Amino acid sequence: MQTLTTIDALRCCIKAWRQEGQSIAFVPTMGNLHAGHISLVQTARQQADRVVVSIFVNPAQFGPHEDFASYPRTEQQDQTQLINSGTDLLFLPSAVEMYPNPIQTRVSVNELSSMHCGASRPGHFDGVAIVVCKLLNMVQPDILLLGEKDFQQLTVIKTMVNDLNLPVAVQGLPTVREADGLAMSSRNSYLSLSERQVAPLLYLTLCNIRDAILKGRGDFPVIIAEQTQKLKDAGFLIDYVQICRSTDLLPPTEIDQELVILIAAKLGKTRLIDNVYFIRPVSS
Ligand code: PAF
Repeated sequence: MQTLTTIDALRCCIKAWRQEGQSIAFVPTMGNLHAGHISLVQTARQQADRVVVSIFVNPAQFGPHEDFASYPRTEQQDQTQLINSGTDLLFLPSAVEMYPNPIQTRVSVNELSSMHCGASRPGHFDGVAIVVCKLLNMVQPDILLLGEKDFQQLTVIKTMVNDLNLPVAVQGLPTVREADGLAMSSRNSYLSLSERQVAPLLYLTLCNIRDAILKGRGDFPVIIAEQTQKLKDAGFLIDYVQICRSTDLLPPTEIDQELVILIAAKLGKTRLIDNVYFIRPVSS
């Protein structure tokens, strides 16, 4: 695996691969890799001749009081995992390489970026969109792989790629979970032992809401209230629980079948997000 830190060196390598007619899959990350990231790399490996992974803790997507400074940075372990999973190129730019000057340009997927997580984290999805847009321009991959764990992020990026006609296929891959159901996330390391024991309740709640809808219930606000009470009792501070249609994350109409339940809640200092996507049968 090559590790490159400059955009010039990255472009040079990509150009050589392109001249050889090789296809490229790209997995952008902020490092602190876990099995979820590695499943993206393994899928990328099957789908293209070359696999590029980036590690960049992107300051533009963190709010002033968020965890940019304390975000776990585990470069050595990450590199070993990437070598073992067949990565060809690790792009590891510095903040100065990515943002040499204060950035003047905005990439904003307006409506989508201001709802759900965007409402509690103003500017977050603009920060994600600009960095992913820049990385796509640098790597110019055929395929971009992202986890479904950050469902709203995935939707924002799919929309941006579509709106800007970026020549890349975006593929979302299922969330990888711990044995007890907790979605893998770099931020799980912030949980205390007792919080970690309670954390799987988040996924259980999503499954309970999904199952109630699949049994035919349509009283969404009541289902949400019933189910989230258990989370509150267990010590979660709920940010939001929303039942949405999966394409644009707006409230579903009666005929929408592809749904996603999105949840964000704090456990102590740790903000956790998760979601469950499902298809509701056509009502008769
Ligand atoms: O999901 C992440 O790790 C980040 O938001 C991403 C897509 C790498 C952009 O910084």
